[in-house]
Amino acid sequence: MKAIEPNSSIATPETFPPPSVAVWQHSHVLDLDDFTQEEIELVLETADAMAEVLTREVKRVPTLRGKTVVTMFYEPSTRTRASFELAAKNLSADTVSLDASKSSIVKGESLIDSLRTIQALGADIIVMRHSQSGAPYLATQHVTCSLINAGDGWHAHPSQALLDLYTIRRHLGTLANLKVTIIGDIMHSRVARSNVWGMTTMGARVILCAPPTLLPRGLDSFIANCQLPNVSIETEIEPALKNADVVMPLRLQMERQQSGLLPSLREYIQLYQLTLERLSLAKPHVLVMHPGPINEGIEISPEVAHGAQSVIEEQVTNGVAIRMALLYLIAGGKNK
Ligand code: CP
Repeated sequence: MKAIEPNSSIATPETFPPPSVAVWQHSHVLDLDDFTQEEIELVLETADAMAEVLTREVKRVPTLRGKTVVTMFYEPSTRTRASFELAAKNLSADTVSLDASKSSIVKGESLIDSLRTIQALGADIIVMRHSQSGAPYLATQHVTCSLINAGDGWHAHPSQALLDLYTIRRHLGTLANLKVTIIGDIMHSRVARSNVWGMTTMGARVILCAPPTLLPRGLDSFIANCQLPNVSIETEIEPALKNADVVMPLRLQMERQQSGLLPSLREYIQLYQLTLERLSLAKPHVLVMHPGPINEGIEISPEVAHGAQSVIEEQVTNGVAIRMALLYLIAGGKNK
């Protein structure tokens, strides 16, 4: 699908001023639950400027020259890790990539000791993925450098949600009043959680669709207690898809699931796979998104994954601009 081109008069990283402290309050990016609409707008506008850099023959600006960005990934990743590393390089930062399986962690070094070591080596920003929910929060209590959560357990994946918001806005112009349907393994999905905060802050309505066993326990009361009138639950896919503007199927996260949550994979596919026939219930302009990795033929049919409505590859591309924007803003927005 063709996206709306960013405004050609947009500022570039060389020209735009540092972020206003009145708008940007974050030393860390841990989730979107503490982001205001203005802060999300600032990230998306900054990403527009970064997207312009990515259209240049030489995709590099000196914005973070002299800064060091360290990626610490304690869980596998393709998209997030590669795009943070590319984003840091495009901004001329020095980058170090720590692979947990080849580090002193295997010799018994604790997370806190590893973080202190990386900080002592001069890290300005640490980008961390960890299987334990809350690990990046713990990390911020032991280091003075900035920290970006690149996905923690079932909890949060803020840069993924921001690139999802950015992709939607580039196609549909706004998030306000859109119906966004997220289908599948909601229980184990940090992407769904961060998107609920980000999308509702930007004015969208979010439908969480899953079999009852793949919805977080107590989700009903959580929605009521947090007063989230724009979030609802649907256990059948057809009503969830009706008139949707955006549909996002999710992978079944077998690595996190206990056994017995699904009667069988075949039944799940029959009842919840996003097929062309089901997609026809959504609005004609519907965007099909997926955070990846995709298990084609399970949560999504190949025809839909690669069809005319799919913006899945564009999400990956947009991830670089969003992560450049986050690194720039977290570093204080100072042009070097
Ligand atoms: N969406 C996402 O987090 O993908 P990776 O696991 O490949 O980083």
